[in-house]
Amino acid sequence: MKILVVGGGGREHAIIMKLAESPRAEKLYCAPGNGGISRYAECFDVKATDIDGIVALAKKLSVDMVVVAPDDPLVMGMVDALGAEGIMTFGPDKAAAIIEGSKAFSKDLMKKYGIPTAAYETFTNADEAVAYIKGQGKYPTVVKADGLALGKGVIIAQNEQEAEEAVRSIMEDKIFGESGSKLVVEEFLTGPEMSVLSFTDGNIVVPMISSMDHKRALDGDQGLNTGGMGTVAPNPFYTEAVAKECMENIFLPTIKAMKAEGRTFKGCLYFGLMLTPDGVKVIEYNCRFGDPETQVVLPLLDADLVDIFEAVYKGTLSDIDIKWKDQSCACVVMASGGYPKKYPTGLEMSGMDDKGQVDGVFVYHAGTKFTDGKFLTAGGRVLGVTATGDTLQAALDKSYEAVKKISFENAHYRTDIGKRALSAK
Ligand code: AMP
Ligand code: GLY
Repeated sequence: MKILVVGGGGREHAIIMKLAESPRAEKLYCAPGNGGISRYAECFDVKATDIDGIVALAKKLSVDMVVVAPDDPLVMGMVDALGAEGIMTFGPDKAAAIIEGSKAFSKDLMKKYGIPTAAYETFTNADEAVAYIKGQGKYPTVVKADGLALGKGVIIAQNEQEAEEAVRSIMEDKIFGESGSKLVVEEFLTGPEMSVLSFTDGNIVVPMISSMDHKRALDGDQGLNTGGMGTVAPNPFYTEAVAKECMENIFLPTIKAMKAEGRTFKGCLYFGLMLTPDGVKVIEYNCRFGDPETQVVLPLLDADLVDIFEAVYKGTLSDIDIKWKDQSCACVVMASGGYPKKYPTGLEMSGMDDKGQVDGVFVYHAGTKFTDGKFLTAGGRVLGVTATGDTLQAALDKSYEAVKKISFENAHYRTDIGKRALSAK
């Protein structure tokens, strides 16, 4: 099969490496891709949000399947446009992608179908939101922009003043753009977080191995929220009992709810969960593979990803045996100094072979360019240095050993990825 992957980050690199293991993947393409991806897939300079451009490219290349990985093209309806041309796709259509595209939609869905989540109210007027928060008088409180905001549209306000500032900056100053025309004010929950990605064809849901993200920029969960600074899998908080609770109270009810709403979800549905003192609650849904969760989940998959993607599309997922390796995986993100705020690009990198010069390591590229035989930085998150091992400690040791052999000016990474997971045991 000829397969085109849409996107250009570490997640897409991980998807491509797993597809490349399939005997069915004859030719891999990526748009726009990046420096690391370009060595495994032919890359085309078409933006992931350019629906017409991607449809034209898929037709020109006569691909047999398109995998749409990022949130914005999914929410914009790229799968619908490809489907209209009769092209097999992996990813939800526009009607289903709203589960990530609108937090108000997903919160209302959970309320209607009794799926556990933080208590909330939705607002389209800043004064009403502020009045509600003051009336509640409970801090911290959580203020979320309704739409997509690169994973940054969430503000945890510690007091009344911060909450009012959050509401006004989202709704009036539009710091997250139009995604802030509506907002959700939510009860603050506590507990360890768990990411569970799942395959679903709309009929059944197959959770992948669990993982844990590290969203804050600095060690000890300090600093700004980022797209994710590192991940580990499996997540030790996601025990068999927790998995059972999630399947009964969250995963199946969500699939059924989407179907009942006429929004059958096919693709990868990502459950962002918190293990609170009152049980597991949904923090967020994503309509796609997580980044950098995918980098630790797919290396542990012991099945053919092409078969799975095809079965999801055809609604025959129950025919596929999806197994996982009995190992651990760790990914340490190396970012540009300054990320998630301003950072330079075009810096030359060294120590950059695929294995990071350490056995059992693979270096997924997130923001790099390959020019004149050299790798240059090209984004905020630059690399995801990933290792598998028989234990989480072994995987982490290998990742960090490789991280130390890679360099570019002002490279920033957290030194405590996996620490919370290790202490859970
Ligand atoms: P989200 O983009 O909705 O996943 O939110 C980003 C991060 O903010 C989450 O990973 C949590 O760490 C935190 N967060 C979001 N909602 C809540 C909540 N209701 N209570 C506590 N923390 C939250
Ligand atoms: N790592 C979180 C996300 O992909 O949204």
